Amino acid sequence: MSEFFVDNTARPRRSLLSVPAINLRALQKLSSLTCDGAIFDLEDSVAPEVKDEARDNLLSVFRETPLVNREAIIRINPLSTTAGRKDVDAVLSCLPHAVLLPKVEQPSDVHELADLLDEADAPEGMQIWAMIETPRGILNAAAIAEAAHTTGSRLGAFVVGLNDLRKDTRVPARPGRTYLVPWLMQVVLAARAYGLDVIDSVSNDFRDLDAFATECEQGRDMGFDGKMLIHPAQIEAANAAFAPDEAALAEARETIAAFAKPESVGLNVINMNGRMIERLHVTGAERLVAIAGIIAARKAENQ
Ligand code: COA
Ligand code: MG
Repeated sequence: MSEFFVDNTARPRRSLLSVPAINLRALQKLSSLTCDGAIFDLEDSVAPEVKDEARDNLLSVFRETPLVNREAIIRINPLSTTAGRKDVDAVLSCLPHAVLLPKVEQPSDVHELADLLDEADAPEGMQIWAMIETPRGILNAAAIAEAAHTTGSRLGAFVVGLNDLRKDTRVPARPGRTYLVPWLMQVVLAARAYGLDVIDSVSNDFRDLDAFATECEQGRDMGFDGKMLIHPAQIEAANAAFAPDEAALAEARETIAAFAKPESVGLNVINMNGRMIERLHVTGAERLVAIAGIIAARKAENQ
């Protein structure tokens, strides 16, 4: 199959704040925060005995104070559990932009959820995002991403989860994530091969913001689109690191303008101030400019 089935519309996904669905105070804080999206968590941050209450919280939040102009994602429990099945019912009532499926290890995990959403007539635009957070998930990342090529798979993004991965592999948490980098890059490569967005893992230490900023820059340089966050204090650094920088933006605008000139028709390469630019750079440049436009509009809105 050669066609892509992913909705590739450019959206900023710099900062996706996870909020335990049981924590009403944190849920109510969301509308005042400047994260690009919220991940409403029904999985690991919610104890089994209060999962029903957490689902009820989500129903009220989505009904009474829905996020405006930001992506809402619900992380459900694995479908092999009773909690996971009940979470799907909550998803169908809340209608988030995406459902985040934990511990995805094979393409059939994605297809199983897509089938459930289809059977319930969930909106076509509702995406599935896959957490890649187990050794098998990493090993099978390419096959899972390839599921995005299947009609109706709904797969839109990968989110890396290092807490589970470190536990399963026994690779300890160290500054620089040295021995984890090869696996992270494998996930980025798999996502890009099939047109998916890819989000870097949470960082647990939400008080050391210098170390966090350094990790955001590392994630950006590895090619991630943004970071999953656990605390509002982390939003600013993620928004700064994953925003298109001014120089890249200026070059993107120049590239688009250069290829739009009448004299560039039929040219695939142009001399731009002593550097070669190629027509193939135009799509990436347009994406960057679109994302920067959304970010600028949000800034204006918050002022
Ligand atoms: N989303 C929204 N608001 C949050 C928040 C979050 N993830 N984490 C903290 N806050 C709010 C708190 O409610 C508090 O608000 P208040 O001042 O109005 O009371 C404020 O930010 C400061 O919080 P702080 O006291 O520094 O932290 P805490 O002890 O309340 O919470 C954690 C610390 C780690 C328990 C909490 O940040 C959390 O639950 N994070 C998400 C965990 C998660 O989702 N895990 C699963 C994915 S790995
Ligand atoms: Mg996990």
